[in-house]
Amino acid sequence: MELGSILQFLEDKTIFVTGATGYLAKIFVEKILRVQPKVKKFYLLLRAADAKSAAERLRDEVIGKELFRVLREKHGASLQSFISEKVTPVAGDISYEDLGVKDSSLKDEMWREVDVVLNFAATTDFDERYDVALGINTLGALHVLKLCKEMCQRKDACPCIHRLCVRRRCRAYTRATISYGHGQKRGQQN
Ligand SMILES: NC(=O)c1ccc[n+]([C@@H]2O[C@H](COP(=O)([O-])OP(=O)(O)OC[C@H]3O[C@@H](n4cnc5c(N)ncnc54)[C@H](OP(=O)(O)O)[C@@H]3O)[C@@H](O)[C@H]2O)c1
Repeated sequence: MELGSILQFLEDKTIFVTGATGYLAKIFVEKILRVQPKVKKFYLLLRAADAKSAAERLRDEVIGKELFRVLREKHGASLQSFISEKVTPVAGDISYEDLGVKDSSLKDEMWREVDVVLNFAATTDFDERYDVALGINTLGALHVLKLCKEMCQRKDACPCIHRLCVRRRCRAYTRATISYGHGQKRGQQN
């Protein structure tokens, strides 16, 4: 896909990103805000107990990072209003149904508005407990897919490109993933 057509695709799109404090998600969000400022909106899921903590994590662990320096220089004093317009932090946890999003009006708005879902949330700890890893990397991914299906039912187009999606009217769901090999410890799966 040519860069021009990617930029065109992203224009006026609403994008839901999980794992927003993580390495890949941060790079993805910064890049799009920089090269396609006409993106409509990001909803960023951050592991947090409530909206206030999610907003704090967004400020301290995402936007406040050195990675956003170029964007800060570009927007100067108007960066805060640009971010407020384009980025909504969402408190949640993908281990739970509905990704643990408790704010029902925000949930409703997101379920209605989102065009594209990117699931970067994962435990990338090689020595994670098996039940915790299963809850995040397997069941969490399932919860995100379920969300995509619910979004399908609310919109004409589906945000999921999962090959099992029966609707086949998909726009984009992607999950960045690496399968880690274990097997050194008893009880762990390969
Ligand atoms: N990094 C790479 O080069 C690379 C390459 C290919 C594929 N991948 C895959 O891409 C994905 C992301 O990688 P990464 O390097 O960005 O990982 P990372 O830096 O470890 O970030 C993981 C993110 O997931 C969040 N998270 C963990 N559990 C969560 C939960 N239950 N609910 C919501 N959020 C949760 C973490 O939030 P907290 O801050 O709250 O912990 C963090 O923001 C992984 O699946 C990885 O295997 C990575």
